[in-house]
Amino acid sequence: MYNLLKGKRGIIFGALDSKSIAWKVAERAHEEGATFVLTNAPVAMRLGTISELAEKTGSQVIPADATSMMDLEVLVDKAMEILGGKIDFVLHSIGMSVNVRRGNHYTNQDYNFTKTGFDVSALSFHRVMSMLYKKDAMNEWGSIVALSYMAAQRVFPDYNDMADNKAYLESIARSFGYFYGRDKKVRVNTISQSPTPTTAGSGVKGFDGFIAYAEEMSPLGNATALECADYTISLFSDLTKKVTLQNLFHDGGFSNMGVSNAIMENFMNTFNHETDNVEELEK
Ligand SMILES: NC(=O)c1ccc[n+]([C@@H]2O[C@H](COP(=O)([O-])OP(=O)(O)OC[C@H]3O[C@@H](n4cnc5c(N)ncnc54)[C@H](O)[C@@H]3O)[C@@H](O)[C@H]2O)c1
Repeated sequence: MYNLLKGKRGIIFGALDSKSIAWKVAERAHEEGATFVLTNAPVAMRLGTISELAEKTGSQVIPADATSMMDLEVLVDKAMEILGGKIDFVLHSIGMSVNVRRGNHYTNQDYNFTKTGFDVSALSFHRVMSMLYKKDAMNEWGSIVALSYMAAQRVFPDYNDMADNKAYLESIARSFGYFYGRDKKVRVNTISQSPTPTTAGSGVKGFDGFIAYAEEMSPLGNATALECADYTISLFSDLTKKVTLQNLFHDGGFSNMGVSNAIMENFMNTFNHETDNVEELEK
């Protein structure tokens, strides 16, 4: 490929199975010459297939619950020991809502579930950066990326409390990114990715409609997990050194669309069909 990450060391959170966005990022980072450790929640070790990825990319897996400061401390220490120095890039690819899983409506949340989802999906990003910062574990001009979704800015009713978690996640990128940039020259960004068929994505109610609608709306179509990995690699590389505090849309143009011809044609077909039916009934 391009050797964009030659000699760089990283930590990649969130590869569960071969559909995971983090999985593709790990494969691409490996191709680009990086060395890294993989990490995921201990439960994901049993549910997923991360060891396959570790073998393929010659990396070690360090289990860590991203809501536990103790786990994160061990992870950061071990990562530097295994990789032989400070870290150049970190991917936070973690998301989970208990309310979504249990089918609770947004207007009727179980707030203990809300808190758990918030801790896992948003606060964990702060925890990760806080541990790296305290330990001075990042090299200058390092890069930290978390994955987000456009429900942070716009209403997608079935995205539920994950919308609020993503808004908070993006805010953490800006707030922490300021201090990390000022003090250590580390950049922090979020990528706002198209709907993607993964375990987390498919858990959202009506996901098939979601993804088909976005595909029809976007001039370039939905961005795949592999394309997201490519974009992430560019943000880890030295080619994007002054990009920080940004939420970067990676969605085939979806976020700037009002309506597309394809969506309008579909809508008008249904609309005309319904009008014909009403006129038929009135005759
Ligand atoms: N799939 C989509 O449509 C889509 C769109 C935009 C953004 N995203 C975001 O991309 C990221 C990755 O999701 P994905 O789509 O690859 O799905 P995924 O299910 O493959 O990845 C989610 C990961 O979070 C991990 N995780 C959950 N709880 C954890 C914890 N306590 N500690 C550590 N890890 C934990 C899971 O084990 C899993 O590996 C998430 O932040 C998600 O919100 C996904």
